[in-house]
Amino acid sequence: MSKKKIILTGDRPTGPLHIGHYVGSLRRRVELQNSGEFDKIFIMIADAQALTDNYDNPDKVRENIIEVALDYLACGLDPKKTTIFIQSQIAELCELSFYYMNLVTVSRLQRNPTVKTEIQMRNFETSIPVGFFTYPISQAADITAFKATVVPVGEDQKPMLEQTNEIVRRFNGIYGETLVEPQILLPDNAACLRLPGTDGKAKMSKSLGNCIYLSDSAEDVQKKVMSMFTDPDHLRVQDPGKIEGNTVFTYLDAFSKPEHFEKYLPEYPNLDELKAHYQRGGLGDVKVKRFLNSVMQETLEPIRQRRAELEKDIPAIYKMLKEGSDVARAAANETLEEVKAAMKINYFEDEELIKRQSEKFAK
Ligand code: TRP
Repeated sequence: MSKKKIILTGDRPTGPLHIGHYVGSLRRRVELQNSGEFDKIFIMIADAQALTDNYDNPDKVRENIIEVALDYLACGLDPKKTTIFIQSQIAELCELSFYYMNLVTVSRLQRNPTVKTEIQMRNFETSIPVGFFTYPISQAADITAFKATVVPVGEDQKPMLEQTNEIVRRFNGIYGETLVEPQILLPDNAACLRLPGTDGKAKMSKSLGNCIYLSDSAEDVQKKVMSMFTDPDHLRVQDPGKIEGNTVFTYLDAFSKPEHFEKYLPEYPNLDELKAHYQRGGLGDVKVKRFLNSVMQETLEPIRQRRAELEKDIPAIYKMLKEGSDVARAAANETLEEVKAAMKINYFEDEELIKRQSEKFAK
């Protein structure tokens, strides 16, 4: 079995990507890409998965493919090093899913915590679309089709990776060593694991209107930072303030680097000292927010500039996606052939079978 190091991950194209995507996975992907340590990297725009709960809104998915692709490239994903592709264009993934369905029980899917919360969030309760219910199986197909060894994702995807590994073990146990068990790669910093919305709510979500998008203008980012949720009891500058649950400090945990202090806030040597002063009292929210704004602008400005350049040639982006999809299809097809052989549904390639059957009927 090959010992190649292969990455696969992806995002649902239901909107432009926000900074939660960035610190949760996107920034890491670019580092991994540039580390040169991986034999292959596949990044997938998961439109088919997006349709499992947006089947009645195909335009939303269609319109956002390009947004996600632009965000990827603007962040530094490089099609020369990374295959970027569109899930629905790889029919092999559906075929794999269909065979994996035999290896998963309904009760196992019902126990998947991510699916459980999503069902509640979408008020599906008693009328869950089968496609949505089974998307963890399709996600296992996405991952195994490329023999991914590493899957960089956010914490909410943990149950999907567990489910994938169960499918791999079951498949290999029944049909022989064919599929590869992937490892999840989570952000190493707690703030990046689950970046809250600007309102302090647990998760950034388009419907809550609490996201900062990678494609937001400098003015919008500033507005969002300056109106961010902090410590509601920190009323006067001299009052002691709380760090826990204070979104501005969570964002600083996720984004600030030592050089930002030198550049924008030289009176503090590092984030710990800034936090300590806030907790003691005597440090106002506005000052911390202004600093965060400088940090955010410095991080997002190069992305914004690259995006503006890329937006000038949209046909080139679609061409890149088409070429990436062709490369991905060939890779997935190789795995599918192995899967079909293992499952003994490769009739026409099996000369042994044809010979044996001939002999049987000749008797
Ligand atoms: N579930 C992921 C999300 O919601 C998208 C996704 C689909 C994915 N297939 C995947 C992520 C395979 C990693 C691996 O963003």
